[in-house]
Amino acid sequence: MTQHVTVRLPSIILLAPLVASACASTRAQDSTEPAAANEAEDLRENYAVAPQGTIEAQLGRGALVFEENCDLCHGARGQGREGVIDTPQVTGEGALASGEHAVSNAQQLYDYVSANMPEDSPGSLSREQYWDVVAYLASENGVELTGQVDPESASTVTLPSSP
Ligand code: HEC
Repeated sequence: MTQHVTVRLPSIILLAPLVASACASTRAQDSTEPAAANEAEDLRENYAVAPQGTIEAQLGRGALVFEENCDLCHGARGQGREGVIDTPQVTGEGALASGEHAVSNAQQLYDYVSANMPEDSPGSLSREQYWDVVAYLASENGVELTGQVDPESASTVTLPSSP
């Protein structure tokens, strides 16, 4: 009698070689900024209390989207990861303005992220989730947002150039 045993490797192990080879350049940084972590926490708390339609609510949702779909690869603070999986840094002023996938406004960031991320399942989030995480990344890249980031405003939301 044969017994069938299904072995489910954690998907991270299966993905690792793919991800490592897909990412030639490493711009990951090791610096940990506890302040930024608290900031993300504050944003998520805002989400619970901020009125819908405000930028605070969008940033709160974006912080959650990031935590659930991006931080596995990009780090809890978007600082990038080095090691089995190498991923670029996506937060920090000007972090998205250089390199192979350099973007200069929120529309370009939306186009790249919604077509390519999460790397293991591109296009799997809703349009709203992509706009929310784009707003969150813009904010984490040093943009002072005064209103929601959406298809109308996106091309006017300029991302800071590299420091
Ligand atoms: C499975 C791992 C993985 C997940 C999950 C993931 N990413 Fe990525 N991401 C990568 C890799 C690897 C690259 C580099 C791709 C390349 O250089 O072609 C990248 C690149 C990027 C870039 C371009 C950064 C730059 O400067 O080159 C952005 C922006 C980005 N990811 C955002 C996100 C967002 C937002 C999410 C969540 C919705 C996400 N990623 C989820 C692995 C991942």
